[in-house]
Amino acid sequence: MTAGGKPLWSGRFSEPPAPEAHALGRSLDVDARLAPHDVAAGVAHVRALQDAGLLEAADADALASALTAVGVEIAEGTLAFDGADEDVHSAVERAVTERLGSLGERLHAGRSRNDLVVTDLRLWLLAASERIEEDLAALIAVLIDHAREHDATVMPGLTHARFAQPVTLGHHLLAHAWAFDRDRERLTQWADRASTSALGAGAIATSTFGLDPVATARRLGLLRAFENSIDAVSDRDFVQEFSAVAAIVGTHVSRLAADLARWTDESLAWADFDDAYATGSSMMPQKRNPDTAELARGKAARIAARFGQLTALLQGLPLGYHRDLQEDKEPAFDAADTLELVLPALTGAVRTLAIHPQAMRAACDAEGLYATDLAEALVRSGMPFREAHRRTGALLRELEERGSRLRDLTAQEWAAFGVPGGGALLDADRSVASRTIAGGPSTSSVRAQADALSARLGARAERISPLG
Ligand code: ARG
Repeated sequence: MTAGGKPLWSGRFSEPPAPEAHALGRSLDVDARLAPHDVAAGVAHVRALQDAGLLEAADADALASALTAVGVEIAEGTLAFDGADEDVHSAVERAVTERLGSLGERLHAGRSRNDLVVTDLRLWLLAASERIEEDLAALIAVLIDHAREHDATVMPGLTHARFAQPVTLGHHLLAHAWAFDRDRERLTQWADRASTSALGAGAIATSTFGLDPVATARRLGLLRAFENSIDAVSDRDFVQEFSAVAAIVGTHVSRLAADLARWTDESLAWADFDDAYATGSSMMPQKRNPDTAELARGKAARIAARFGQLTALLQGLPLGYHRDLQEDKEPAFDAADTLELVLPALTGAVRTLAIHPQAMRAACDAEGLYATDLAEALVRSGMPFREAHRRTGALLRELEERGSRLRDLTAQEWAAFGVPGGGALLDADRSVASRTIAGGPSTSSVRAQADALSARLGARAERISPLG
């Protein structure tokens, strides 16, 4: 609304909006956080008007200063929002007009809230994605630290949550790190696409002022301007895609959290959360619960729902701006906020995790972990794998029936089985070391993976952001 409490668009209306219609349409509580970007977009637009000869230099300077001053007031919380302000765009324009009078009324030439809101939201999400990328980098860094320390710590690798084959803890931790590394890459690729200015598109069909959208984009530190003004104001796939990436990050977070919750339970006791990241029970005095991990897992559902919400909002909408699109901000902000809440907490929980290598090593006494090594030994001596699998399975069943163990087999029995000296294969260190392939669980592979991931962290850190 304007200073007089009238909407920006009041000209053709005989009465103000009904209070309940105004309440429904008002988005200021949600979109106030776009203010710094609304100011930046406003300043870039003022310069476009100046370049096009629509504003004298002194007037353009005055408008830019007023916008900046309004931005400072909003940041400091000293700007009084008017109950009549529909959204942040109206509030900023009103405040500028209150300062400058009729000069303020020149600001909105050649722009619409339609191209403005898209540009603001792109700038907001780009800044959020940088913070999330940094949070991911911090999480990857603590995973790498533990992995380097535990490049030779053996543990049972699990399939179906059951003991499968020995791996190193470092290998398992870096499996999570690679997933987060892909998430960083997703964010970077998303940011490249999202770095597009919509300013100049106007409401849908640009304007008659000959504004230069490319120069405006450059002033905003964005990579490019829109290619099509209808697409510019209609496109929300940058929001949907951001939330999709956020949902994938949430999924990866939930899987790491699930591992940590399991490793710290009494049945495995492979690790303990630091007291600062564990919680007690209000009733049972003995409890140390993994709430940080469980909440990180639970929040993933919320982020996935935000992606679903945006998809439902957008599908089936004809092109052009629709007020429905105002509903895109809350889920987008929430997806970003939730990750910014979860990632540092999970990173702290991982950083301070007390790992119990002896318990992991003791779990590797389980003989079943070596059955595949035995079958592979038979294959190396010439037996077809299917036969080796059957033969090893039969041996395990026979031992189970006799109530005996692989470790009790005599040298003769090993020779009869076809793997002389087979007892030596029942060894986690040996099992892991014998998997020399790159990308496998061996110590050398873990070191190579850690080096590769560290290099990727360093390379990405050098990416200079125009947005800061
Ligand atoms: N608050 C609105 C939004 O977030 C601004 C756009 C209003 N545009 C319009 N044509 N009514 O989308």
